[in-house]
Amino acid sequence: MKESLTTKWQAPSNIALVKYWGKHGVQLPANPSISFTLDACRTITSVHARKGSHSFSIRYEGVEKPEFAPKIKAYFERISSYCPWINNYYFEIDTQNTFPHSSGIASSASSMAALSACVMDFESTLTGNALDYHKMSFLARLGSGSACRSLQGEAVLWGEHNDTDGSSNLYGIDQSELLHPVFQHFQDTILLVDKGEKVVSSTVGHDLMNNHAYARARFEQAHENLTTLKKALKAGDLKTFIKITESEALTLHAMMMTSHPYFILMKPNTLSIIEEIWAFRKNTDVPVCFTLDAGANVHMLYPSEHKMSVDQLIHNKLAKYCQNSHYICDQIGTGAKKC
Ligand code: DP6
Repeated sequence: MKESLTTKWQAPSNIALVKYWGKHGVQLPANPSISFTLDACRTITSVHARKGSHSFSIRYEGVEKPEFAPKIKAYFERISSYCPWINNYYFEIDTQNTFPHSSGIASSASSMAALSACVMDFESTLTGNALDYHKMSFLARLGSGSACRSLQGEAVLWGEHNDTDGSSNLYGIDQSELLHPVFQHFQDTILLVDKGEKVVSSTVGHDLMNNHAYARARFEQAHENLTTLKKALKAGDLKTFIKITESEALTLHAMMMTSHPYFILMKPNTLSIIEEIWAFRKNTDVPVCFTLDAGANVHMLYPSEHKMSVDQLIHNKLAKYCQNSHYICDQIGTGAKKC
C-alpha cells in the first residue's frame, strides 16, 4: 500500500439528447439515454490521498465547502464495496469549474466524473492495471446518473437498449463511431436564462416519475426515440435529429408539468427563445435546434459551419432574454483527461 497518492483530472459536462428522467434501485435508469459530451464546461479536480482512516475534505476554488460534503460522503459510501481500498485513505479534494458555479448548469455530471477519474487513476496505480473507463463510468453513475456519460467519447449512451450492443444500465458506452461528419465540432451555445438554484432538484424530479400517469409510455418512447436518433446521427440526418432532440426536451418538461406535485422549470424567456429559434429556422433554413436540461437555460445545437449566423441571432435577438446577457459557447468534446 502506498503512503500517499496524488492526481488531477478534468471532466466535462454533457447534454442529453434522449433524456434520463426516472430511476430505480441504486442509480439505475428507467430508460436509456444518449448525450453529446461537452468541451468547455468542465470540472477540474485534484485529489491527494494519504494513508489513514477514511474521510475527506472538500474545497471549491480553494475554499472549504461543507455544503458539498453530503453528496461526496454518499458517493464514497456507495463506491466503497467496489473500491474497498478507499477505506485506508484520507482524501483531500480540491475542485473548480471552468463555468460559473451559479450558472444554473448542472455541475454534478462533470464533478462526479472528474472525481471518479481520480479514484480510478489511484486504483490503477495501486493495482498496476490499466485505467478502466467502464468502471470509471460505473462509479460516476453512483455519484450522479448523468455523470456516467461524461468520461469517454463524443456521444455516450447509458442504459439497456435492444438496438445497442454492449449497452448497460451500469455505465455509459462510447458511441462516437456513430457520428456522421456533420456532427463534428457540433456547437452547443448555452443561453443562461436563469442562473439561480433550481426550485426542484433532479433527484426529486426523478422520484416523481414513480407512479407518474405517463411513465410507462414515456419510458417506451425513449427507447424508440433512441433508435431513431442513432440512425439520424449515423446518416447525418439533421431534420430527424432536430425533431427528436426538441421533442425530448419538451417531453422532459411535460413530465414535470404532469407530475404530482407538478412543477415548471421553464421561464417566460425560455419560451421566447424557443419561438425565436423556430422563426429563425423557418426563415433561414439554418439547422439549429434547442434542448433543455432540468432548468430554464436553453442549449442551442447546430453545425459549426453555421456559427456566424447563429452568433448574429444571439447577439441581435436572444442575448436580451439571458440573465445579464450571459451565454456560454461550447461544442462537442471527447471526455475526461488527466491534467
Ligand atoms: C434532465 O444525473 O442530475 O439532465 O442521478 O439524481 O444525480 P441524479 O440526476 P441527474 O439527472 C439528469 C437529468 C437530465 C437529463 C439527462 O441528463 O439525461
